[in-house]
Amino acid sequence: MAALTGAGISADSGIPTFRGKDGLWRRFKPEELATPEAFQRNPELVWEWYEWRIKLIKEAKPNPGHLALAELNRMGIVKCVVTQNVDDLHERACTTCLVKLHGDIMTARCTSCDFEIKWKDVPKGVPKCPACCSPLRPAVVWFGEPLPQEALERAERLFSEARAAMVIGTSAAVMPAGKLPLLTKSNGGIIIEVNPEPSALEPYVDIAIRERASVALPRILEEVRKLYNSNKT
Ligand code: OAD
Repeated sequence: MAALTGAGISADSGIPTFRGKDGLWRRFKPEELATPEAFQRNPELVWEWYEWRIKLIKEAKPNPGHLALAELNRMGIVKCVVTQNVDDLHERACTTCLVKLHGDIMTARCTSCDFEIKWKDVPKGVPKCPACCSPLRPAVVWFGEPLPQEALERAERLFSEARAAMVIGTSAAVMPAGKLPLLTKSNGGIIIEVNPEPSALEPYVDIAIRERASVALPRILEEVRKLYNSNKT
């Protein structure tokens, strides 16, 4: 099984989603904060917004949903977790196989050279590259930018080969990530959705678990463990 996660899995860790009732894109304009043009126009404003988000993420902890998914991954039930999230909660939950499609908010990269840095502390203002003095930018994918090619190809392979795609906490509104589970479906597999609300994938979903990820995933793990134990005896 391959898993695709979105902002909903981190919602119970206190990190806002993008499109929900209290979603970030209800309060902020993506064209002012999450495009290369926005960064060129006003890097101070963009960094201010990322500084706030980095702080939120640093204070957050993986919730039982992240932990259960990491355990399913460790057991080999979930071969790999593909995430659209830029937070580091899957890493902190010790997920063993993780593909990050939209980059990593805890990393910054130079706008001119190859320099990259992983943040320990929250950056202040517009950080400068120590190698060439150009501004650093968050190492995330912004609107209008391509996804990292290697990560996308790996994710496509995983979902094409999987017999089941588990889709957790994503509206599946953003492409190409939202289409990945359809690769599983078109190769004869099934789609399982963990989300209190139906996503754009609803017409293709075989099993819908209308529950929060932090509740549903530990239950799935418990059931899998029971099956494992009953097979052993
Ligand atoms: P969205 O905000 O679009 O969708 C969040 C989904 O999580 C919704 O379908 C909610 O119903 C669901 N949800 C909310 N709470 C949940 C919970 N406790 N458990 C499970 N599900 C829950 O977020 P994404 O689909 O991740 O792009 O958005 C995709 C991309 O759009 C993001 O990666 C970001 C954004 O623009 C970039 O940053 C490039």
